[in-house]
Amino acid sequence: MKKLLMAIAGSALLLTACGGEEEAGESGETVDTAAGEEVYTASCLSCHGDNMEGASGPALEGYTADEVLSAIEEGPGAMPANIVEGEDAQIVAAYVEDES
Ligand code: HEC
Repeated sequence: MKKLLMAIAGSALLLTACGGEEEAGESGETVDTAAGEEVYTASCLSCHGDNMEGASGPALEGYTADEVLSAIEEGPGAMPANIVEGEDAQIVAAYVEDES
């Protein structure tokens, strides 16, 4: 009986581990709007406004994800370069393209 319980506990652990990995893989492939909004709110909102209407930075209207990515990398004018990096940059770029 004890062995059986151990086996069940063991496979439950394995399942949990696999599920976590799958989720990470999926979030890289699909555009995650909620995550994009989170990054925008944390890193861009203070300069580009609540609804991308602009504040100390210009309004973000009609930018493609590629344009947003290069702005993030280059940091034009008073905008700091690489304020977000890697996956966060791609997520927020897709978000700005979709929402602006
Ligand atoms: C500290 C303030 C600040 C923050 C934070 C900031 N920006 Fe900017 N951003 C600016 C300013 C100022 C400009 C205008 C720069 C110029 O052309 O002189 C700008 C320009 C841009 C442009 C237009 C670039 C172009 O070539 O026309 C995009 C797109 C942009 N920002 C996206 C973002 C995104 C996405 C974030 C968050 C990851 C962000 N910005 C965070 C201040 C900021």
